[in-house]
Amino acid sequence: EKGGFDHFMLKEIYEQPSAILDTFRGRMLPNEGIIKMSGIEDNMKTFLNANRIIVVACGTSWHAGLVSEYIFENLARIPVEVEYASEFRYRNPVITDKDVVIAISQSGETADTLAAIKLAKSRGAFVFGVCNVVGSSIARETDAGAYTHAGPEIGVASTKAFTTQITVLTLIALRLARAKGTISSSEFRHHMIELELIPEKVKKALESDAYVKTIADIYKNSNNFLYLGRGYNFPVALEGALKLKEISYIHAEGYPAAEMKHGPIALIDENMPIVVIATKKGHYEKVVSNIQEIKSRKGKIIGIVTEGDEQVKALADHVIEVPETIESLTPLLTTIPLQLLSYHIALMLDKNVDQPRNLAKAVTVE
Ligand code: F6R
Repeated sequence: EKGGFDHFMLKEIYEQPSAILDTFRGRMLPNEGIIKMSGIEDNMKTFLNANRIIVVACGTSWHAGLVSEYIFENLARIPVEVEYASEFRYRNPVITDKDVVIAISQSGETADTLAAIKLAKSRGAFVFGVCNVVGSSIARETDAGAYTHAGPEIGVASTKAFTTQITVLTLIALRLARAKGTISSSEFRHHMIELELIPEKVKKALESDAYVKTIADIYKNSNNFLYLGRGYNFPVALEGALKLKEISYIHAEGYPAAEMKHGPIALIDENMPIVVIATKKGHYEKVVSNIQEIKSRKGKIIGIVTEGDEQVKALADHVIEVPETIESLTPLLTTIPLQLLSYHIALMLDKNVDQPRNLAKAVTVE
């Protein structure tokens, strides 16, 4: 049932082109200029009247929530707060009936996320679910929702759930942006056309697999990794670090690239591999100067760059290319080599990739 792959995780990484396609198929019609999702259409007034969106989630789903903060704010101009469900539920949060809560969960069974939803509902908020598992507890508990349609995710380390969550959240943000008039119809269409191209571009990003494996071989015995990114790719850095921790048991930290000089830069020496997401769109020059700072401290640089990049290539020890896309969609591509890197390192270290120690696929207890 692994479809010819050695592990579910690898199968699920490779399923992402079709999973993302399944997520937007039928919901997005670029030629007609339409995005339609019944959960949004039926509650359009609530969304448009919302003072803010509060995202609640855990783990990888929380990272997808962080990406959505950039997407919602940029496109739809709705303020967003992204909360760990476990913190939110015990914080006596200020919530009113003017808030929309979006709960993100692959399994739909995460105890903390479920509790956060119940709390938000009890205080009058409208709660919208983004789940993968159909009919799950969270899907049933929420007022409305949209499924990711990623298909079953068996590997404990979440991969296709993450990219399909970002896809659904992008569709929602685009739909709301259009309704609010915060983007023009040509921008709206442009985003849809770019999203439609993503499955093919993910396929291309997957072609880096063999090269990523050679990088994995070089750094597999490192004790620490740093992952850096900015803007839309800051959460991708967090997610890359989480993937490595979970399945290879190597300590890794994700950081916003510009925060490096406020502390983590002290960690950098010739033994520290640093994965830097430095795509052409989005703070590129600033990230390049961060890379220069790392280089002068002899850190080993693994750059995730846009196809054809020259500047980072000249500085980095290795560069992994991903196709060009619009800035808001870069996470769907930059995350691919990071998933592969953690997979190959874990495998080379002889770890149980699909069922890492101490972890469960659905965390149904707090
Ligand atoms: C990461 C991972 C966990 C989950 C988290 C939330 O690879 O698997 O961090 O993302 O437990 O799970 P869901 O999305 O099912 O609520």
